[in-house]
Amino acid sequence: MFYSDELIEEVRLRNDIVDVISGYVKLQRKGSSYFGLCPFHNEKSPSFSVSPQKQMYYCFGCGAGGNVFTFIRQYENYSFPEALKLLADRAGITLPEEDESAENRRRRDLRTAVLEVNKMAGKYYYYLLRTEQGARAMAYLKDRGLTDETIRSFGLGYAGRYSDQLSRYLKQQGVSDSLLKESGLVQISEKQGMYDKFWNRVMFPIMDVNSRVIGFGGRVMGDAKPKYLNSPETVIFDKGRNLYGLHAARSSRKKYMLVCEGYMDVIAMHQAGFTNAVASLGTALTAQHASLLKRYTNEVILTYDSDEAGVRAALRAIPLLREAGIMTRVLHMEPYKDPDEFIKALGKETFQERIDQAQNSFLFEISVLEKSYNMEDPEGKTRFCREAARRIADFEQEIERENYIEAVAAKYQVSFEGLRKMVMSWLLQGAFVRKKPVRREDAPKKDEGIRKSERLLLSWLLEYPRLYPAVSSRIAPEDFSDGLYRKVAELLYRQLESGQTNTAWIVDQFEDPEEQKAIAEIFNTEVRVGSVKETEKAVLESMRKVMQNAVEEKGRRLDPSDIAGLQELIAAKRKIQELNGLHISL
Ligand code: GTP
Ligand code: MN
Repeated sequence: MFYSDELIEEVRLRNDIVDVISGYVKLQRKGSSYFGLCPFHNEKSPSFSVSPQKQMYYCFGCGAGGNVFTFIRQYENYSFPEALKLLADRAGITLPEEDESAENRRRRDLRTAVLEVNKMAGKYYYYLLRTEQGARAMAYLKDRGLTDETIRSFGLGYAGRYSDQLSRYLKQQGVSDSLLKESGLVQISEKQGMYDKFWNRVMFPIMDVNSRVIGFGGRVMGDAKPKYLNSPETVIFDKGRNLYGLHAARSSRKKYMLVCEGYMDVIAMHQAGFTNAVASLGTALTAQHASLLKRYTNEVILTYDSDEAGVRAALRAIPLLREAGIMTRVLHMEPYKDPDEFIKALGKETFQERIDQAQNSFLFEISVLEKSYNMEDPEGKTRFCREAARRIADFEQEIERENYIEAVAAKYQVSFEGLRKMVMSWLLQGAFVRKKPVRREDAPKKDEGIRKSERLLLSWLLEYPRLYPAVSSRIAPEDFSDGLYRKVAELLYRQLESGQTNTAWIVDQFEDPEEQKAIAEIFNTEVRVGSVKETEKAVLESMRKVMQNAVEEKGRRLDPSDIAGLQELIAAKRKIQELNGLHISL
């Protein structure tokens, strides 16, 4: 990283975490911490805590946590340098100019300029919609059931009657021809020269997660073709990495996101109170979209059109979402075409019912599969079962496979045992050919009990530094079972050695937000287990567990001919026994 540790620390020290988070979350003091409703998951009673001493936050509900940088990164969806910049600005600290190459600087300046042009265009469209010229567009939007508030909050506009209206306006404002071209708002043809990409259309500004206008969609007010035009990709507009409506949906605090196809669908859903709806930008959902969604939710409900194209789009999206670790369900839209029409016809309560009944994505895939077999014919049905079994065999966990075997067997009225045998046979074949590597999250967790003891111990050390000599003389950082905990122990031990602890600094020694979250979890482990005496007993107990585990681990790795190692092991075991006579006091 380019910025020095001192500078980063300075920025952190000058941004008290309680002050900063208070700007986003309403906090109330409770004992030595502050509590509020977690902005990262939906909850009714506050489990989100901010500690002024530790300069850290932690949610006991969803496990989100870290220091002030982690918070800004998570909340604003910023990179580390962006979070640093925001907090430096907030504290009035000027960051040294980044030593960037001329090329980088040029690109960055261009991006800023194109953003500015888009903003000007958005405002102009917004203004035109409210003029005489825009009256028909306004009537069109009203006719489609949009309220003034909705039209305002999505920044909808009108592109003007003439094909050079926007470019003329922007040029008057001093925008150069080359910048106009970069913005994608104009097109160039040999005959006409430069002319506007959009005219006489209702305009939908497309915003990134930080509500900056990065492009536009424009719809004709009637049946002409093409129905929609979209901005081309530019230096700031990447259709595969942005979702329409996400800037609003990200703070909707619902457990899941609704993903649909059209701008009008997103708007109709938001207006009906489903403020967690987003759409891709006239293109198919990509793997980048899936990982973008994963930052905000673990569950997606696909609300694609009920036509064949919508089903195909869903079938393409499901594996991408699955790969990103998102649980997906599919909403049944019939007899209506899309969410907009559905809500207009049956109302939001019925739409909510459909959300609640949305189908598991795997069973949706299977039900689409069914359509290509003749299920009346025994052979057709057998082939269908074989294919279904092959897909079930793809699930890594046995319990998952069993559940799907059960569900499919029941739904298609075939025998559970028969289907199970088919799955087994695919598994046996697959064992030799296509063994998928085990993903990190799926790998068996190290004994959670041990990890809990380790967290407690680290947390106690922070709370009661007097414990340090008794603990460190018996447990070395390497004795912790978890790699991350080992590193944290090493850093904390060093701080305790020097008599000053600074957990927020420890967080900064890790770049991955997931690791930062894990550290917040460690230092927010509930340390008081009862009376002082009981706590002292619990500390000893945890020490014993951690030592025991370390000895077992060493034992497993010991080469039987290593005499010195064996002696060490015996000494370590003796130390565990000696704990019986040890008295520690907080
Ligand atoms: P309405 O007819 O206004 O209700 O539109 P919709 O929101 O129902 O959109 P539809 O389902 O027809 O299309 C979904 C999305 O595909 C739109 O939001 C556009 O992004 C894109 N799209 C639709 N028609 C066109 C088109 O003619 N050209 C391009 N480039 N994109 C289109
Ligand atoms: Mn529609």
